[in-house]
Amino acid sequence: MENRIYLDNAATTAIDPEVVETMIPVLRDLYGNPSSTHGHGRKVKALLEEARSKIARLLNCTPGEIIFTSGGTEADNMAIRGAVKHLGVKHIITSPIEHHAVVHTVEEMQHSGKAEMHLVRLDEKGHVDLQHLEELLATYPDALVTLMHGNNEIGNLLDLEKVAALCVKYDAWFHTDSVQTMGHYRFDLQQLPVDFLACGAHKFNGPKGVGFIYIRKGSRIKPFITGGAQEREMRGGTENVYGIVGLAKALEICYRDLDAKRAHVEGLKQLMIDELRNAIPGIAFNGDAEGRCLYTVLSVSFPPSDAGDMLLFNLDLAGISASGGSACSSGSNTGSHVIRALDTDPLRTTVRFSFGKFNTADEIRQVVGKLAEMYAVPATH
Ligand SMILES: Cc1ncc(COP(=O)(O)O)c(C=O)c1O
Repeated sequence: MENRIYLDNAATTAIDPEVVETMIPVLRDLYGNPSSTHGHGRKVKALLEEARSKIARLLNCTPGEIIFTSGGTEADNMAIRGAVKHLGVKHIITSPIEHHAVVHTVEEMQHSGKAEMHLVRLDEKGHVDLQHLEELLATYPDALVTLMHGNNEIGNLLDLEKVAALCVKYDAWFHTDSVQTMGHYRFDLQQLPVDFLACGAHKFNGPKGVGFIYIRKGSRIKPFITGGAQEREMRGGTENVYGIVGLAKALEICYRDLDAKRAHVEGLKQLMIDELRNAIPGIAFNGDAEGRCLYTVLSVSFPPSDAGDMLLFNLDLAGISASGGSACSSGSNTGSHVIRALDTDPLRTTVRFSFGKFNTADEIRQVVGKLAEMYAVPATH
């Protein structure tokens, strides 16, 4: 959108023009059903399998371990529900700051009596307490551990290697919601013993409504969506072929340009931290913003002020798109379960700014300038 500044890249990202170019011929000309055995179908099937192989190469896994879905939510549902229904899981170890795609699914397993939920403790920075995780695993071996790789609201990063090693030690299944890290960090799935991993293309400049679940060979669950024999009989329904082709292209671009993109986006985040510290006394950052944290996310905690009440609204009026928590909870007035779990001062206001490759340093300076104007008004409470 003209003249607006978009700092909500954790909610979704702008599609990369290279991705659009790759998708258009598929959308326009290649309309065959990939399950059809005639020429029209075979051509599209070949594209689908090419996309799967490309993703498998990028993540160092086998094509058969990649199952396309409608996005991250479906992938999370498939892993958790599948583990309970088909792998005999009776205990699920998770954290209080997971995305709703995981939280609500695990809660449903608990409420329906299918599995018991166990919440791992967080440390003062919002990281999973690995010692408590080990205690839970020792008490409930053979559990499913579902812990997100990168938190969508505060950006905290999980130590995947350590958690995966603990799961191996206690024979637990390990699902990680990597929706916020896919395309932003490299994965070597031959080295990393995770069983399930979730991805949504729209978080890394790909199209919306498409993603995948990685299912390690040998940890086979059954389909979550039943129907035809698509996706190697793991997910019924005609595939979103142009979306899948776009997803694979978007991931390819991410890893092709990763070092430069990361340096650029990391620089923007650091600039925002530095400029905010200079501009607004009492500013703080939620989670482990300057430590083990996504370089794409900055959760800013503004000091108590009259400006705080209407902050997001006023930012929006000023042409700045940011988020008060996760996008998925905006519109509901229950507030963020993540910020609540961190036990932060309720008088402070949290805004999540999240950065992408299309943002510029000039935009960051403009946003901080606007925030400084809003916070120049003295507090009355
Ligand atoms: C951590 C995390 N998990 C899952 C999802 C859901 O992904 P999708 O929008 O592809 O369904 C999101 C999106 O906000 C997310 O940030």
